[in-house]
Amino acid sequence: MTAQLIDGVALSKTIRTEVAERAAALTAAGRRPGLAVILVGDDPASAVYVRNKVKACDECGFHSVLERYDATLAEATLLQRIAALNADPAIHGILVQMPVPRHIDPHKVIEAIATAKDVDGFSVHSAGALMTGLPGLRPATPFGCMKLIESTGIGLKGRHAVVIGRSNTVGKPMALLLLQAHATVTVCHSGTPDLGAHTRLADVVVVAVGRRNTLTADMVKPGAVIIDVGTNRNDEGKLCGDVDFAAVRAALGPGGHITPVPGGVGPMTITMLLVNTLQAAEALA
Ligand code: GUN
Repeated sequence: MTAQLIDGVALSKTIRTEVAERAAALTAAGRRPGLAVILVGDDPASAVYVRNKVKACDECGFHSVLERYDATLAEATLLQRIAALNADPAIHGILVQMPVPRHIDPHKVIEAIATAKDVDGFSVHSAGALMTGLPGLRPATPFGCMKLIESTGIGLKGRHAVVIGRSNTVGKPMALLLLQAHATVTVCHSGTPDLGAHTRLADVVVVAVGRRNTLTADMVKPGAVIIDVGTNRNDEGKLCGDVDFAAVRAALGPGGHITPVPGGVGPMTITMLLVNTLQAAEALA
């Protein structure tokens, strides 16, 4: 018997149904949630991501705006657009798709977004709120990972969680969310010697590295929960995560849980962006 799948598509569907109901209630009260998505440049992967975000908004009854700009857009012009969206009462969330072209400072862009509309949760203010346990908007990917872990019914209190990856967007906020849920947290990264020595002790492993086969069957404890944030391509060009999925799933045994790629974390990231936008709309209303 292999580990149970954690179905991110099904969980997303459940959450999006509730989001759509709450959005409809706000819309009926004349306060339809609105998200503005800005894409600078023509990176094909980013174009797909932003289209999916806008499509998800439409499906949940949100107002959405997609602004696409040439890669040569001046930083000052982008900052002016953000200022206009900050002042736009129909917009409750603003997302500038990363990465931005090299001549634009991503930190300036992130900090230009009004805190109340920072639905990515990337700003210093939002990060500080998470760090100190104050309410605020949480980065969508780690927020979605928490929902996936919760869906297993395995409580985090007293458990040992290992996060692999230390990015500002996933690894660091993930560690803080797990800490807030009373897990004992170890953060590993590319400079960690003997990763397996840590992961073999873990009840929960979140892998957010961006390199396939980072977590292999010999590195997990039977019964653990494995959350795979990676999106990579294998030799056949098929989408895969950071986890050696089939072998790890077998090694976890029937008490274990694991997210697939695709169909695990990916759909939850967009879902939690919708949740954040809804929360922002409810707070601003
Ligand atoms: N690029 C890749 N993922 C994300 C995300 O979650 N938000 C933004 N703004 N850019 C991204």
